[in-house]
Amino acid sequence: MAARLTLQDVNLRFGGVTVLHDVGFTVEPGEILGLVGPNGAGKTSLFNCISGHYRPTAGTITIDDSVVSGLAPSRLAAHGLARTFQHPALQLHATVLENVLLGAHTRLPGGPAAWALRLPPTGRRERELRAEALELLESQGLGWAAGLAADELSHGLHKSIELCRALLMRPALLLLDEPAAGLSHGEVEHFIETVKGLRDEADVTVVIVEHHMGLISAVTDRVVVLDHGSKLMEGTAAEAQADPRVIEAYIGKDAADDAA
Ligand SMILES: Nc1ncnc2c1ncn2[C@@H]1O[C@H](COP(=O)(O)OP(=O)(O)OP(=O)(O)O)[C@@H](O)[C@H]1O
Ligand SMILES: [Mg+2]
Repeated sequence: MAARLTLQDVNLRFGGVTVLHDVGFTVEPGEILGLVGPNGAGKTSLFNCISGHYRPTAGTITIDDSVVSGLAPSRLAAHGLARTFQHPALQLHATVLENVLLGAHTRLPGGPAAWALRLPPTGRRERELRAEALELLESQGLGWAAGLAADELSHGLHKSIELCRALLMRPALLLLDEPAAGLSHGEVEHFIETVKGLRDEADVTVVIVEHHMGLISAVTDRVVVLDHGSKLMEGTAAEAQADPRVIEAYIGKDAADDAA
């Protein structure tokens, strides 16, 4: 079941540097939200706060009815969270299929510990998960690569492998950090279809950080714009693209005035 994500007054500071300032918004169950803003706006930092990689200095993050801010990343899977990274971190010498299967540990009896220790295989369940992982790879046009070492594949394909790993977790909340960066035009089109398929199934809430505005316009219900760590506005992608504050944030005030 898709989750509701609520952020209230999230602040993040490193020493004297404010990275996030009073960020608040809600993502409704089944919604696809774009999180956009210029380089350095704080998008990845906000994902890191939600996924437990950073602990907010102040504020509250809630998934459904559970306050999750401050929990360790390993505890977040139990709340249905899966994410991908701006710079994918794969096990480069493991196969593509093994990398995807890392997403399965949350669904195995015995949980992550049994998987890590490779306790006696759980038989049928493990075989089912392998078949599902292969299906996901095939859905991304990557069935041919299942047995290859991950480092034999391009950066763009690493993004697709991470997406398969996250989807194998059957998340209720999925965070995607620049999923289209490094993808070819055809791969972006395929990714758009994948996200539309997720929306049709309506059992996952998705937040996408992306600079590719065509993609954001094509797949999101709404966007939140961040700038210098603060929320600038929220609305549809079209509203954001027409908003003078957003144009100014992207191209600078002088250029925005010239363009007006
Ligand atoms: N661990 C950290 N220590 C200190 N500063 C940090 C840390 N993590 C992020 N920052 C700072 O927070 C600011 C926001 O960075 P962040 O990576 O969240 O931006 P972003 O919106 O994801 O940008 P991009 O679009 O380039 O990926 C930057 O100024 C960055 O240097
Ligand atoms: Mg980033």
